[in-house]
Amino acid sequence: MNQRPTRAEIDLDALAANYRALQEAAGEREVLAVVKANAYGHGAVACSRALEEAGARWLGVAIVEEGVALREAGVSARILVLNGLFDGQAEACLAHDLTPVVYRLESFADLQALASSRGEKARVHLKVDTGMGRVGVPLGDLPAFAADLKRYPEVEVEGLLTHLADADIRDLDYSREQVARFGRAAEAMAAAGRPVPLRHFANSAATVRRLGGEAGMVRPGIMLYGARPAPDFDPSVPLRPVMRFLTATAYVKRVPPGSPVSYGRTFVTKRESVIATLPVGYADGVPRKLSNRGEVLVRGRRLPIVGRVCMDLTMVDATDFPDLAVGEEAVLIGAQGDGRISAEEFAGWAETIDYEILCGVSSRVPRVYLPGDEATACESSS
Ligand SMILES: Cc1ncc(COP(=O)(O)O)c(C=O)c1O
Repeated sequence: MNQRPTRAEIDLDALAANYRALQEAAGEREVLAVVKANAYGHGAVACSRALEEAGARWLGVAIVEEGVALREAGVSARILVLNGLFDGQAEACLAHDLTPVVYRLESFADLQALASSRGEKARVHLKVDTGMGRVGVPLGDLPAFAADLKRYPEVEVEGLLTHLADADIRDLDYSREQVARFGRAAEAMAAAGRPVPLRHFANSAATVRRLGGEAGMVRPGIMLYGARPAPDFDPSVPLRPVMRFLTATAYVKRVPPGSPVSYGRTFVTKRESVIATLPVGYADGVPRKLSNRGEVLVRGRRLPIVGRVCMDLTMVDATDFPDLAVGEEAVLIGAQGDGRISAEEFAGWAETIDYEILCGVSSRVPRVYLPGDEATACESSS
């Protein structure tokens, strides 16, 4: 069966180039490539394979389920589960050779029980909260926490990590303070007789800003995909966008002045117009906020979205192209001819960030991998 023309093209060469650029910025430090949330919407399996091929030895997922899916697809790199374990997940974690981030003694207890019954060690990375306020052992609690770890001899704390709250803003004072606290966390572990060999705190922004602090690994995500952590952020390394989100006109009609378009009749034509309907909507990841405000590229030129974005359909004013036909390419994110709409610009229309837009391209949108062969050409989103 032929597919609806709506798709996301994923340029795996661009992904590999971005990985190499970040590896260069990271210098001697290991680059853990963050592929959580379906590789920020780009397709976790294909991206993980491409990143492994580009040299990545570590991948980061948010949850155990994502790690298991990668293992089942044959991914063999080390996989760090960044958000830790939920109750009852320790077994799947060990069985699939996933390395959990931990910050609760209950996770240590679960892992200890399993590891000793299997006659093996469980490796974990311990997360400390230095000011993000999300998950992690509070710095002040760390000495007591570290002292308790002797109850879990089969659990090896291989890594120590923290997460920065705003390494993408101009003023790095808070990030530097967090890094200093992280240094104190490492000292507290050493003082408790648990020195941790591998330390990491840097997201994309901190990686390219070469934020100081002793660390053996960095954890970039968004910049792997060619997007920036914040609109005014200078990436300082060459980045190539990885995703192109596109469709094709499904219906084109000429209408007289005074014709309403879409729910609520929020747009009414003022002149004789050509209205093109695109087979893409908010169920695909085009936010409804783009109603009467976003743009798409057709023949390399920008056309305005008119009327409300619907669940499955979106209309554009194509009066500039009276000969527009059904089946002509329309680009939501990416380049076409001399035109380009970045994820960032698209996110701006929706009053959100690129992260949310990219991982919001829904599972209904097939990912098409470039350069593609038959096997990867129409792999779907997961
Ligand atoms: C724990 C952790 N590390 C690294 C990253 C990657 O951050 P970024 O995508 O900003 O590079 C994230 C993303 O949210 C994260 O949650």
